[in-house]
Amino acid sequence: MKFFIDTADVNEIKEAVELGLIDGVTTNPTLISKTGRPFKEVVNEILKLVDGPVSLEVVSLDAKGMVDEARQLAKLGENVVIKIPMTTEGLKAVKILSEEGIRTNVTLVFSPLQALLAAKAGATYVSPFVGRLDDIGHDGMELISQIVDIYANYGFMTEIIVASIRHPKHVLEAALIGADIATIPFKVITQLAKHPLTDIGIERFLEDWAKVPDRESIF
Ligand code: E4P
Repeated sequence: MKFFIDTADVNEIKEAVELGLIDGVTTNPTLISKTGRPFKEVVNEILKLVDGPVSLEVVSLDAKGMVDEARQLAKLGENVVIKIPMTTEGLKAVKILSEEGIRTNVTLVFSPLQALLAAKAGATYVSPFVGRLDDIGHDGMELISQIVDIYANYGFMTEIIVASIRHPKHVLEAALIGADIATIPFKVITQLAKHPLTDIGIERFLEDWAKVPDRESIF
């Protein structure tokens, strides 16, 4: 399973890269705006930090505008992936871009049929938003299972990025279902490594180690 980090915060990306767990980055206009920094400056820094796919989102709503933006964004780096919203205009743009060899990530996916259309249009990635579905009382993870089944039924190569992750259980469930990728906020990445029994265990081992005679002799 690949882990992407869902942020545009360069410090978070640096730390996560140091952990050795990060295969890519996803951004969106909200995440970019949270940095308070100029778009190109942030993006160029991210592209220097990460070799894997970095998703950058278009803001046009019509296919032509999306394609024009995508072509510009794609010039920023070989690892740029263009995030396109799941609309009929978006699907047209995905088709054109995939024929040009520009990788796409269809975002704001909330139904299995939207994911089917994205794959048929030639999307490289599809991003179903589990947290936002849970927020309105739906079952976000059921959507992931359905997309995994549909893609397996027809052999689609589109990779599923589980997005809008809120907590470690989302990551666990995504892994059990067999989703290709989880895009995870920094806070949740750090939570994945934690367990209270690990902390208690370390504390006890150190207490006991302090009782061992001549313990410094190995150093
Ligand atoms: C996905 O690529 C999006 O950036 C993201 O996961 C949205 O999550 P949110 O619902 O926490 O905004």
